[in-house]
Amino acid sequence: MNLIIGNSPPVRRIKDLINQVVDTDLSILICGESGVGKELVARTLHELSYRRDHPLVKVNCAALPSELLESELFGYERGAFTGAVQPKPGKFELADEGTILLDEIGDMPVALQAKLLQVLQDSEFARVGGVRNICVNTWMISATNHDLDEEVRKGKFREDFYYRINIIKIVVPPLRDRKEDIPFLLEHFIRKYRSMSKGRIIDISSNLEKAFTEYHWPGNVRELENYVRRLIVLKDPDLLEKEILESIGRQTSEDRPVAEVWTPDESIIDSVLDNCRQEMQTRFPSLKKIRKKSLARIEKVVIEEALKRTKGNRKQAAQLLQISYKALLYKIKDFGAEVPARCSYDDSLELKLPKELESFI
Ligand SMILES: Nc1ncnc2c1ncn2[C@@H]1O[C@H](COP(=O)(O)OP(=O)(O)OP(=O)(O)O)[C@@H](O)[C@H]1O
Ligand SMILES: [Mg+2]
Repeated sequence: MNLIIGNSPPVRRIKDLINQVVDTDLSILICGESGVGKELVARTLHELSYRRDHPLVKVNCAALPSELLESELFGYERGAFTGAVQPKPGKFELADEGTILLDEIGDMPVALQAKLLQVLQDSEFARVGGVRNICVNTWMISATNHDLDEEVRKGKFREDFYYRINIIKIVVPPLRDRKEDIPFLLEHFIRKYRSMSKGRIIDISSNLEKAFTEYHWPGNVRELENYVRRLIVLKDPDLLEKEILESIGRQTSEDRPVAEVWTPDESIIDSVLDNCRQEMQTRFPSLKKIRKKSLARIEKVVIEEALKRTKGNRKQAAQLLQISYKALLYKIKDFGAEVPARCSYDDSLELKLPKELESFI
């Protein structure tokens, strides 16, 4: 069984919570940035539960378009669509008596959220193109690196579905907020990968260990694990150590966001007020609409300032703003915030501008 390494207060709280909920069957939502260990927490929950001898079935909700995801979850009958020559059970059926892990649930299409909610309420479903109702006993664990509270507020995630999947929430904090875990993780990964180095003893210099603890780990535990793997596998550990120190050093001294005094351009407030005045001339705007528009204008300015300070590094800007990386990407897109030239958009993220903001930008 994979162990959750770490003894920091948040990790201790997570371990306590796992022990409390492990045999309850309550729906669990695991939140946290990419690479913090959400899947590890899900696997631990399953392995400690009475369901451990049954399967843990993982579905990546971000990987498939809506219709395919539906047939992946619920299965299909022969002839349900072109190419469905054989009936196929869905992941819910495969996870009967076991656990289903709905990974990246924040990316599940809204229409499918509605269907899944129905299924959860009725405790039964039919395969796509089928009529027979199927009843399964599955523990549902979901994971996401989205800020679902915010997505619900924006209408991008169904509120009723959110409450249904979020009966117990486990938040796994980023590694930079629990640095005391780093030495234990280092030791753990060195032990784990030692067999790959044919037993070679890896000596981490105090310099490197210090750099590891100071670094802010935007890729969290996965990034730390990958550094250790490289350190162990590559032929010249001294050269690699130098490289790692250089790359960590660069990011800790040069690129790390620095606290500077910021004087906002107050004309932004004037322009927001002007906008309101103009609207009042024609159709009196609701306070709710005003609040939303004004907040968006101000957020845009602050986001642009954060991006400027981090030279367009969106991961660091998200840290500075204390929001998740994904939430920042949404906001950049929503507000049309200007990103300094050095960095480019992640085009793989298909994000749609909410209607109410279109007129505003
Ligand atoms: N506390 C921990 N102890 C030991 N290993 C850990 C810990 N946290 C994370 N890991 C390891 O780090 C790697 C990344 O973890 P995991 O895949 O669970 O992250 P994740 O939050 O699901 O990431 P993503 O959002 O990108 O899917 C895995 O190899 C995992 O075993
Ligand atoms: Mg994961």
